[in-house]
Amino acid sequence: MLTQFSVKSHIINGSLKGKRMTHIENSLKFFTEHTDNFLQQYQDLVRIPSVSTDPEHKADMQAACKFLADKLRGLGAGHVEVFPTKVHPILFAEMRADAEDAPTILIYGHYDVQPAAPIEEWQTPPFEPTISGEYLTARGASDMKGQVMAALAAVESVLAAGPLPVNLKFLLEGEEEIGSPSLDGFIASHADLLACDIVLNPDSGMVSRDSPTIVYGLRGLLYFEIRVDGPKADLHSGLFGGNVANPANVLAAIIARLHNPDGSVAVPGFYDKVLPLSPEEKQRIASVPFDPQALLQITGVPQLFGEAGYSPLERTGARPTLDVNGIYSGFIGEGSKTIIPAYAKAKISCRLVPDQNPDEIYALIQAYITSLTPEAVRLTIFKHSGAPAYLVDDAPGLEQLSKALAETWKKPLSFKREGGSIPVATTMQTHLGVKSLLTGFGLPDDQIHSPNEHQHLPTWKLGVQALIRFLLSFEHAN
Ligand code: BES
Ligand code: ZN
Repeated sequence: MLTQFSVKSHIINGSLKGKRMTHIENSLKFFTEHTDNFLQQYQDLVRIPSVSTDPEHKADMQAACKFLADKLRGLGAGHVEVFPTKVHPILFAEMRADAEDAPTILIYGHYDVQPAAPIEEWQTPPFEPTISGEYLTARGASDMKGQVMAALAAVESVLAAGPLPVNLKFLLEGEEEIGSPSLDGFIASHADLLACDIVLNPDSGMVSRDSPTIVYGLRGLLYFEIRVDGPKADLHSGLFGGNVANPANVLAAIIARLHNPDGSVAVPGFYDKVLPLSPEEKQRIASVPFDPQALLQITGVPQLFGEAGYSPLERTGARPTLDVNGIYSGFIGEGSKTIIPAYAKAKISCRLVPDQNPDEIYALIQAYITSLTPEAVRLTIFKHSGAPAYLVDDAPGLEQLSKALAETWKKPLSFKREGGSIPVATTMQTHLGVKSLLTGFGLPDDQIHSPNEHQHLPTWKLGVQALIRFLLSFEHAN
């Protein structure tokens, strides 16, 4: 292994205090010496406004996909293939190790981002990356172009310093932020292509910059939209007010009945299948270093609010929620306009926990909202996407990843149940039979999905180092 390493390596094996440098040391050295270049590539990717939900950005989606395909080809991937879908392309790439018996790691990523709106809230343009102090600010800097580029930087550094000790497969999609409509089918029909021993999914984040984190639970998601239609057009509120049901009033009344005053969800049956928290699980959640003060600071709210009887970390990690994401009706321009709006609509999502089934929850909600709707209006409900929660603490490679993170940060690891959703983890478990290693180097205050999203670069650099160590932990000679 070592002889092969010195022959093949682009870097001539240097010596460290008279000792022959290892593949890890050389890879870390390569990364340190080329960090600026990696940061350039990272910025080139975030410059592409790949907003998956917006049809206007279709070409940008293709550009981001091409950028990564070119990058992977440049890294020597023998097989790089772009699979068109009904929405945005899926990118697959493969690099083979020299050794026959090398394990195969599948690295998942998404190259799409959330919309930048409200654009006026950004201090710097969302798609013009700016590095200021320790932060890189841009839409996608943290979620998750930064994490994709961290993985690619680690792979490049490992390759530059020696042979690849593992087979690598990459699955990079462009529809994560819209619920991955094409991915389930793709994974199901390409199980052989995607066959692997380990899945590395760096789309989650860290508890804090001092606490490298492996996520063992994610919430599921149900996203739907409701629309209340009243008159066929906006009406004069003086001439007609009092004789027609106002869709905005009706929608507000419906929404008001979705929660109980104690913060719990009022939809009948919503909690029926929720897995209760065992004392052990409560203990495990409580062991994560967490400061409620930090939550107040990050959010800027005067007080936390949530379901009574649960700690903040239990609420985000292990309890389901229902939230209005957007609400629209009538006149919202400057000044006043006396109308009864023709319609009102709301986008609503539920974060789900084991063992809630998204379809069952949707049926319960549909029935409940229908029962709350007066006959004087017409109601439409439709589902955008649904995915179950994920709870897995024995993914293959866990030991190697834990070790790599701990060695890099020299701090204790956190195992966390996260509130966000990464539905592909469940899909891969179902169709590939492999549980995912969920990690990432974003921080709670990165403002993901929000204006001024940023990535803490010192944390990102440690992340790359940890991934180098992780990849090389599969090297026999190590
Ligand atoms: N990276 C996030 C999810 C995340 C963030 C998990 C931080 C853990 C910690 C991901 O890109 C995301 O936002 N997912 C969506 C999924 C949805 C659209 C199906 C989400 O959670 O809203
Ligand atoms: Zn996201």
